[in-house]
Order: sequence, then structure tokens, then C-alpha cells
Amino acid sequence: MTQDELKKVVGLAALQYVQPDTVVGIGTGSTVMHFIDALATVKHLIKGAVSSSEASTLRLKNLGITIFDLNEIDTLSIYVDGADEINPHMQMIKGGGAALTREKIVAAVAEKFICIADSSKEVDMLGSFPLPIEVISMARTYVARELVKLGGMPKYRQHVVTDNGNIILDVHNLRIVDPITMEKTINALPGVVTVGLFAMRGADIALIGMADGMVKIMKK
Ligand code: 5RP
Repeated sequence: MTQDELKKVVGLAALQYVQPDTVVGIGTGSTVMHFIDALATVKHLIKGAVSSSEASTLRLKNLGITIFDLNEIDTLSIYVDGADEINPHMQMIKGGGAALTREKIVAAVAEKFICIADSSKEVDMLGSFPLPIEVISMARTYVARELVKLGGMPKYRQHVVTDNGNIILDVHNLRIVDPITMEKTINALPGVVTVGLFAMRGADIALIGMADGMVKIMKK
């Protein structure tokens, strides 16, 4: 199966976690697009969705799924999103699509984070995928210098402005031995809006599309 076919398989598999009459938290990316398409087949059973990006909102609206503002919602039973890397502890690198800040906010509200990914995203140690960091534009070079001190090689993602009007630094060459400490350290740098490490709040369930088309289910 192709990578995209595997993304579709896990997008469909995530439907089993959708509870009737609830609002569903929606991530961003090509895997999530498959989940949104699957969700549209049961849209009459749910109240609607809270979205983590303009791109996902557009797809949801086009398919007739009601969008809720996160501020209208007290709880979300599930948040479904992809990952750029996921380790055996279900900690992730996210932000390849530059939506990491809203993703982290919506995920924080949800009772369960369901990660959907093809098996190419599985790693033993996070860091081969360059770590995305959303940064306030004026802090770009300061934050970059601090990231070099942490052993990384930050690269400015050219021509990308996030949905929140900020820039992205992608940090290469990091071996993230202790993801929670790294997340806290980078979060604490003035000018950093969000680091794309989802370690303090990792996934609760991961649905991994394997090469043979089967779905591996990982649970905390
Ligand atoms: C967007 C993300 C995505 O979940 C991540 O990049 C995976 O994307 P895809 O499903 O296209 O492989 O974090 O900010």
C-alpha cells in the first residue's frame, strides 16, 4: 500500500472513537484530511468539530460539518491528529504543517488524543524530523541563537506565516533524549510561541498504518 493509502486506512479507523452527539477536535495535515472525509459520512450523528487550522476548517465546512469556536466548548471527548514522528512513549514531533500552536491548544482541551499516522512516522528517538517551533517574528534571531546553544541547527522556514501571524524555525540535528525537558526548555525561551514537541501531553491512543494495510493500535 502507498503511504497515502495507509493514511486513509488510519483516518477511517479513527471513526470508531467518535462518540454520537459530541464535538470532535480536528488536527491538521494530509492524514487528518482523510479522517475529515470519513467524519463527513457520520456528520448527522455528531454536533460538529473544533478545528486546529484554516485548512482543516475549510475542508470541514465544505463537507457540511458545523464548526465550533473552542471558547464555546468546555470539553472535547477526542482530538484526532497526525504526527511527523511518534516514539514508543507516544510522544510526538508535530508542526510539519505549521499548525502546531492551535493543535496543542485543542489537544489540551480533549480527554483523549488519538494520533493517526503511517508507520514511516514511528521512531525510537525523536529528532530526525526537524523540530518545528513557532516564534514571534522579532525574536527570530535571538531564539535561533539559543537553539544553537541547545545543540540544534535552526533553519527559518521561508515564505511561511502561521495562522497566528508568526514564523517557523525548523531545528535540525537534535537528538531528543529527554523530550519533556526539551519541551519545557524551549517553551521557556522568550519569543517562542509553541514548540512542536508533544511530550508533556502525548497521544493516548495511536493508530499506526502498517505496510500490509493492518492498523497497529498503541495505548497508554
Ligand atoms: C501539522 C502536523 C501534522 O499532523 C503533521 O505534519 C503530519 O502531517 P501528515 O498527516 O500530512 O503526514 O503536525 O502541523
